Amino acid sequence: MRRMMLRWGAAVVMAALALGVWVVDPTVTRADPNGEKHEDEGGHAHVPAPLEYADRHVPPSVWTDPKMIARGKEIYTTTCAVCHGDAGDGKGPAGLALPLKPSSFRDRAGVAEMRDNYWFWRISEGGQVEPFKSKGSAMPPWKGTLSVEDRWAVMAYQHTFTGHQGPHVPWEHPESVAMGHDIYRMSCVGCHGAQGKGDGSVGATLSPRRAPQPRDLTSSLFKFRSTPSGQLPTTGDLVRTISEGIRSSGGPFTIGLSGYRIMPSFRHMPEEQRLELVEYVKSLNKAFWERAEIRTVEIPPRPRVTPERVARGKQLYADAECLTCHGDRGRGDGKSAPELKDNQQLPIQATDLTRPRRFKNGRRPEDVYRTLMTGFAGTPMPSYADALEPEQAWDLVFYVLSLSQGGTP
Ligand code: HEC
Ligand code: HEC
Ligand code: HEC
Repeated sequence: MRRMMLRWGAAVVMAALALGVWVVDPTVTRADPNGEKHEDEGGHAHVPAPLEYADRHVPPSVWTDPKMIARGKEIYTTTCAVCHGDAGDGKGPAGLALPLKPSSFRDRAGVAEMRDNYWFWRISEGGQVEPFKSKGSAMPPWKGTLSVEDRWAVMAYQHTFTGHQGPHVPWEHPESVAMGHDIYRMSCVGCHGAQGKGDGSVGATLSPRRAPQPRDLTSSLFKFRSTPSGQLPTTGDLVRTISEGIRSSGGPFTIGLSGYRIMPSFRHMPEEQRLELVEYVKSLNKAFWERAEIRTVEIPPRPRVTPERVARGKQLYADAECLTCHGDRGRGDGKSAPELKDNQQLPIQATDLTRPRRFKNGRRPEDVYRTLMTGFAGTPMPSYADALEPEQAWDLVFYVLSLSQGGTP
């Protein structure tokens, strides 16, 4: 009985969340509507870096590497000091006359709030991007002249002006992810827990002793990725997950509910806030700073679906043993389905492939292609990137998507 009550309690909370009932406390919105903050203190708006730059984290060792600092000093003295000043105080001779003053790197608090990917973005693109362009920024772009490593080196040198000794990373400067942390506390903590360990009070009542439980965000296991098996997701993947929410592939509350989500969608949250949130989520796992290079799984153009492709897909579905888990008609009732467990040893349901509206990773052919080529980390759903040629993967995708119509294209 108590369990029933808990379940219903959870169901009500979940329903509220699923309806997107979440409230942003206006006091957390650090930046004002124009994105202008710190202006009064002589600093600049540290808006989130755009997605193309969001994954450009600087390896933590760079900041304290004497060789990098020395190389950075040389670049700084010859190219940046005219505006930013030899002492990093923003008072270089060419800067004095500018309407928008060069930033000071001696402003410890201002620099501590500046994330590495923002810093890298600003040096790369200068004042040619918004919101700096329309303010008349004279900061030149350097991506054409300075290599990635040169840009890191100059950052490491500029960082020395603050007097901070360690690497410039969020776990040294929690203020750099404070806004994301505030949003996290309001919207995610109930399921993912105060430290992101997946142990929030609501989460534990969702469906006890069954997968999926709210993820331990410190664990490096992510299901919804555009990156190969074994890797972390991109920032774009995380933004997609948060925007879409996570649909349920089945389970106790889902009878008759095709759009039901076990994690609500936050697509109505302003993009800037979602980006801040994701920077906080990444700060829970240092591995996001340690990957040198990010490869994403290539999704070739989708071919035309033909009955021959679906027939070949059906054969592959049997040969690749999809049916041992998903069942011969895709209903999630294959012979090993009752024994499937996730990495926490919790029973996990093989997805009912006849209900693509419930797919967590999306139901467009490209989404299903991505699912097959990346796999879901922490679950029995493997990656087939090494087993399938792209043409075969498409055949299989078309067959999977035909299952909702009984296997006809
Ligand atoms: C022609 C003058 C000029 C030169 C040269 C210059 N900057 Fe700037 N820089 C500016 C101005 C003005 C701003 C403030 C406006 C803005 O944020 O776009 C700025 C802002 C920045 C910011 C953003 C800081 C923040 O708090 O948002 C960084 C980082 C930066 N510069 C790094 C560099 C580096 C590194 C170099 C040399 C490779 C350099 N700048 C060369 C004028 C210059
Ligand atoms: C109602 C509970 C609930 C709330 C609220 C919630 N989540 Fe989740 N979240 C889950 C569950 C359950 C999973 C695991 C789903 C699965 O493994 O299929 C998950 C998984 C995730 C994942 C992992 C995705 C992947 O690729 O595997 C991320 C990232 C995440 N949540 C972020 C957030 C953030 C950020 C917020 C707040 C904006 C949030 N969640 C709010 C329940 C929730
Ligand atoms: C060892 C068991 C197993 C095998 C083999 C397997 N799957 Fe899965 N598959 C799963 C499980 C379990 C899930 C659900 C994971 C979850 O909900 O987190 C899943 C999920 C899926 C999804 C749903 C993704 C979504 O967006 O929700 C698709 C599509 C899928 N599998 C297709 C296939 C195909 C096609 C094959 C064969 C090439 C295959 N699977 C082989 C266990 C398996």
